[in-house]
Amino acid sequence: MAKTKTSYFCQSCGYESPKWLGKCPSCQEWNTFVEEIIEKSNGSIPDWKAASTSTSMQRSNKPVLVSDVVFEEDHRMLTPDKEFNRVLGGGIVPGSLVLIGGEPGIGKSTLMLQLAMNMPALKVLYVSGEESDRQIKMRAERLSPNAGKAGGGCFILTETSTQNIFKQIEQLQPDLVVVDSIQTLYSSHIESTPGSVSQVRECTAELLKFAKETATPVFLIGHITKDGMIAGPKILEHMVDTVLQFEGDRHHVYRILRAIKNRFGSASELGIYEMLGEGLREVSNPSEILLSQREEPISGVTISATLEGVRPMLIETQALVSTSAYGTPQRSATGFDTKRMNMLLAVLEKRCGFRLGTQDVFLNITGGIRVEDPAIDLGLAAAIISSHQDIPVPFKTCFAAELGLSGEIRAVNKIEQRIAEAQKLGFEEIYISKYNIPSAAKDKKMLDFSRFSIKVIPVARIEEAFNLLFG
Ligand code: TYD
Ligand code: MG
Repeated sequence: MAKTKTSYFCQSCGYESPKWLGKCPSCQEWNTFVEEIIEKSNGSIPDWKAASTSTSMQRSNKPVLVSDVVFEEDHRMLTPDKEFNRVLGGGIVPGSLVLIGGEPGIGKSTLMLQLAMNMPALKVLYVSGEESDRQIKMRAERLSPNAGKAGGGCFILTETSTQNIFKQIEQLQPDLVVVDSIQTLYSSHIESTPGSVSQVRECTAELLKFAKETATPVFLIGHITKDGMIAGPKILEHMVDTVLQFEGDRHHVYRILRAIKNRFGSASELGIYEMLGEGLREVSNPSEILLSQREEPISGVTISATLEGVRPMLIETQALVSTSAYGTPQRSATGFDTKRMNMLLAVLEKRCGFRLGTQDVFLNITGGIRVEDPAIDLGLAAAIISSHQDIPVPFKTCFAAELGLSGEIRAVNKIEQRIAEAQKLGFEEIYISKYNIPSAAKDKKMLDFSRFSIKVIPVARIEEAFNLLFG
């Protein structure tokens, strides 16, 4: 038996140090070092089962001309879930390691079990360290009442030791492996507790090696800490090929699957699901559900044409502006960055002369989704002023433009797609930036708005937009 060896790991970024440090030299965080036992057993360890990060790979490759590399067209596996395929960039890539993060209770296990059960043609191994067989069965029953037939290809394994998991994998030879969750796994090559930095790193390294060598895709479910980071070292995100985030407001039914990193596709893709009593349902036309049903125009409500990934989406933004009862006005935004809201308010105050400094301002994006697209700026500004002045914005009007600090209306990308979506949903006019209109004839062919029946209103300054809207 070798001598017990310990090392210190930064709990925030995974930096390893032989001695304790107050401040991490890698991520500059204070007081994040924790001692972990890293002693390795010195028995003979079979090949990919011992892919410890501390042992360097033995295989040596020779340099190859890039033109000589034989490229096999990746045969992506298509799942029945179209949203999932799109977020992954067109299906599952063989041998890829995908991490799915999300807050507890958001529906990660449900999403993956549903996926595992809906691929009867493939042998899927669902490894759970969190729930018992019976608990999983109960969930499976809920997801599809005839799980016995549909789930024919889905095997459940409740196990936390990676060595045992690999033993079972060798026997079963699955086409796809799901691990729920990476923080519960335990490798006997490392002595620290499950969930610690060195364990998470070791287990991920073993699974990575397995995925690459057998071309079996592996999905890892990962917990998220309070501040929204995937628990465990940041290094985990570097090791895997794809990082997906499952998010949403737990009190709303909508859930969003977002690609944060993707080696095999775009990282701005987004899938939308609805959490029902019988599992998750794909939402293929998000605009229709994100617009609330209204009979007549209400002040403080506007619609913006946003773009998430490649998909245009119309969302409703609501503002409430009221005189503050206390000294310090309240500012709160749901689904939108508060800093950006403060910036919008400052622009409205300075450039348009609205006295918002003494007002409480609340912003809300309906459906409980978060929007980062700056194209909702103009719509939000209009909602704020509409509420402030108590003048409703016309019913069939929507917006797609960014607001600059000097009050200028800035152009946004893919304007044609946004206009087309607005038209499809029956809007009659859309406010866009004047700078989205091609100045010379050169882009005319690409950006020809005359083919739209919706009225396109180009504006250059915020005052101009408000004059047209509120007179
Ligand atoms: P779960 O997948 O256990 O979340 P996670 O693995 O991310 O922690 O989801 C739990 C929540 O989902 C729970 O509050 C109940 C709800 N749920 C439904 O609404 N419908 C369903 O069909 C299932 C299985 C769960
Ligand atoms: Mg779970």
